[in-house]
Amino acid sequence: MPNNTLLASVPVDLMYQALETEKGGVQIYTTALRLAISKDLREEWNKYLEQTKNHVQVLSDILRALGLDPDVETPGRKVVRYLGTSLVKTMELASRCADPQAAQIVAAECVTLAETKDHLNWELIGELAKKATAEESALLTPAYEQVEREEDEHLYHTAGWTRELWIQALGMPAVLPPPEETKKVDTAIEAAEAKKSRTASAKVTTNTKAKKASAR
Ligand SMILES: [Fe+2]
Repeated sequence: MPNNTLLASVPVDLMYQALETEKGGVQIYTTALRLAISKDLREEWNKYLEQTKNHVQVLSDILRALGLDPDVETPGRKVVRYLGTSLVKTMELASRCADPQAAQIVAAECVTLAETKDHLNWELIGELAKKATAEESALLTPAYEQVEREEDEHLYHTAGWTRELWIQALGMPAVLPPPEETKKVDTAIEAAEAKKSRTASAKVTTNTKAKKASAR
């Protein structure tokens, strides 16, 4: 590809990093699913695993359409791969030395960390699409519009699970599944609102449990 196009050097590295993040995501969800005890969380992560596999395909297709080899090694993707492998190893360590509840929390933390990078990649791809040539934008924009919405859900919903699983482990009233699930959170503002609403939801859950206990 000629160097005078926008998708050269740093932008191209972003595309390779994004692909490597998604490939790492497949490994991370596969491992996290082995540690997930909650049926609802397993269902959620199974859906995200399938979507992440599709994201690998979407990014590979974009790179090929740009005349780039999706298998080329770059320093940036090497670093991203190291991070992904480290998260998988972290979960494997937890599955060996932590109790199942704690290992599930480690898995949720690792997914949240991975999805933070994934989410950032797609946000940047969206910015890139705005400044790209018409030809490049025609490749990036539809992919961004489809994938970014899913990335919002992956990040904000899993962050909600991580917070509530921790609260449950601390012996405090948790909202499970988290409010991010029921409120259909897709943006940072909605995620903040869902987090704020959790106190009221936790109180309702606690009162309902207390009423049931006293009725026995
Ligand atoms: Fe993704």
